[in-house]
Formats: sequence, C-alpha cells, structure tokens
Amino acid sequence: MEVRAGVVEQYSDFATYARADSPCLAAWATEVVDDPDVVAWLSELPALKRQPNLVFAAARWHGVPAPGPYAGLREALLADDRSGGPIRETIRTRRTQTNEVGRLATLLPAFAQIAAEATRPLALLEVGASAGLCLYPDRYEYDWPPVAALGGSGGPRLRCVVDGPLPEPTACPEIAWRGGVDLNPLDVADPDTLAWLETLVWPEHDDRRALLTAAAEVVVADPPTLVRGDLLVELPALVDVAARHGEVVVFHSAVVAYLVAEERAAYDEMVRGLVAEGRCRWVSNEGRGVLPSVTATLPTDPLRGGPAVPPEHEGSFVLGIDGRAVAWTHPHGRAMTWLG
Ligand SMILES: C[S@@+](CC[C@H](N)C(=O)[O-])C[C@H]1O[C@@H](n2cnc3c(N)ncnc32)[C@H](O)[C@@H]1O
Repeated sequence: MEVRAGVVEQYSDFATYARADSPCLAAWATEVVDDPDVVAWLSELPALKRQPNLVFAAARWHGVPAPGPYAGLREALLADDRSGGPIRETIRTRRTQTNEVGRLATLLPAFAQIAAEATRPLALLEVGASAGLCLYPDRYEYDWPPVAALGGSGGPRLRCVVDGPLPEPTACPEIAWRGGVDLNPLDVADPDTLAWLETLVWPEHDDRRALLTAAAEVVVADPPTLVRGDLLVELPALVDVAARHGEVVVFHSAVVAYLVAEERAAYDEMVRGLVAEGRCRWVSNEGRGVLPSVTATLPTDPLRGGPAVPPEHEGSFVLGIDGRAVAWTHPHGRAMTWLG
C-alpha cells in the first residue's frame, strides 16, 4: 500500500478504536486523516514509528496540550523540523510500552481458574512485560460489578464491569515467582521512564495515571525478574526458570500485535507446544485479529461461518486460556464479557 494511504488507514482505525475512551485522541486522529500536510509529515517516519499512540504521546511530551484542539498538534508537528526536530527525535528514540495495570481485572479470573486446577502456587511469566506492573495481581482488590468482588490485599481497587457467567474468583492466587521478558524492560524507579509511561496514558484518564503511580510503587518495592530480549528467543528457557518456583503461567496483553505475521505464527506454535508438553499454562489477552487461532474458538456466527463479533466488541481484546477464547475484554480492563 502507498505510504500515505497506509497512514490514513492507520489513523482512521485508531479514531474508531479510541472513540469511546479518548475524545481528544479520536478527534486528533480523525483530523489527521483529512490533513495532507500532517499525513505527509507522518509518512516520512519509519513505518513502525507512525503509530498514533507514539506520535501523540511524543507531541504531548513536548508540550502540546491534551485534551486540547487539533490545531496545537498540527502546528507542533509542522513546526518541529524548523526547531531541530525534538518531537521527531522523541518518536525515534522512545517506544509505546504502555503498562496498563487495569488489565489485571480481566486477567485475574483466568489466573484464578488456573490456580484452582494447580497443585503448586503460580509462577507468573509475562511476555512483553514492559515494566512488569501486571505481575502483581495479588496486590490489588477487585470489583466486578454486578457479580463479584475480591478484597483482602489492602491495595488499590480495580473495577471491571462484567457481563456473562464469570467464574467468580473467591481468592487471589498465591504467586511464588514473578518474571518476564521484554525487548526493552523498563525501570519505573527512573523518574524519566515513569514520566514517559504517564504520558502514554490517554489524556482524559487521570484514574489510570493515579493507578500507574501506585503500581510503580509496588514494583519498586519488590522488583520482578525481567530479562531483556525477544520473546521468540527467550521464552522456553524462562519457562524452565519459572518452573523451579511454581505452576508456570505464560501470559501477555497487547504484545503480539507488535510482531509481524510470521513471528505471530511462530509464537503461537511455540507456546502451544509448551502447553502441550505440560510445561506451562497460557493466558493471552490480545486484539481480535492478532492471534487467529484463539479468535477462531469464539462462538461462531452461523450466517458468516466465522467468529460472531458483537458490534460492542469490535475494538475488544480476546482473552484466552490455553488457546481457547473465554472472554471479550476492554483493552484497558474496564469491562469484560465472559463467554458461556
Ligand atoms: C503495549 S506494551 C504492553 C505491556 C504489558 N503487557 C501490559 O499489558 O501492560 C507492549 C510491550 O511488548 C514489548 N514487545 C514487543 N515486541 C516484543 C518482542 N518481540 N519480544 C519481547 N517484548 C516485546 C514492548 O517492548 C512493550 O514493552
């Protein structure tokens, strides 16, 4: 696809994705689509650096007000090259590593189900862990209105509206070990790193920024074992390390989308092999198109012959246990529909 047409499609898709959660970023993306000058500016970035989340965060990092008018973004991008290119440099050197601890509210029911079937405490191994904030499910309390709640940790409370027959977690799993792999593991003890993670949180989401601050304190007090490397290379050896400590649960959210198609297929095959060998359990939480083998296990639409996608779940993630879809989840963990 011609580069500019690709940018237009990417920003148009993002506008749809963000519409319900960030009016500001959805409006910015919509305006970009109709702005040939900005589309041209974006087209000069390397392909992997044209992501709306990264570009918008970089602009905000350099003072573009958000929530705020599109004109602020437009002027900053088009003037950037005249002032030495600070926004372009931030886009070049930083990554979208949004570490969303709210996702734990959708992951915990899967962890609890696995823990109920396990004979040992869990060893949590997160693929694409960023700063590892999601490795501490036992440090939070949970509200799943209208069906369930789980307290007792004394930690921050996560809220996720539930639809469908959620298997109600009655206790938080015991966690014996926490580790992960990331191309670029982040250390939230570093103020600059934490500030960048705060900037990646969408502008209207003060609740998520407050949670990020609390989650960073948890990690700084008790850091996980994070390995720098590619998940395709590091995962099998890390599974062996984790197995010394407990029942291994390999999990990930919002990670496999960063792999190209061949890598996604290779990852899917690798982790299915590990599960088949009894070396780990697997919890996946990824966009609908990202792991086709998991998505294929969703209930089917008899008219279309493929997975039935309710309109309200067009932008949802698919939560899977051992490759079988069990729920639709909101990408930031605010809601989930458990499947029958
Ligand atoms: C959007 S963040 C999600 C972080 C975390 N899973 C969460 O849900 O909050 C995606 C992370 O995946 C990592 N990542 C992407 N490709 C990877 C690869 N091939 N191997 C290891 N990590 C990767 C990125 O560096 C980034 O930290």
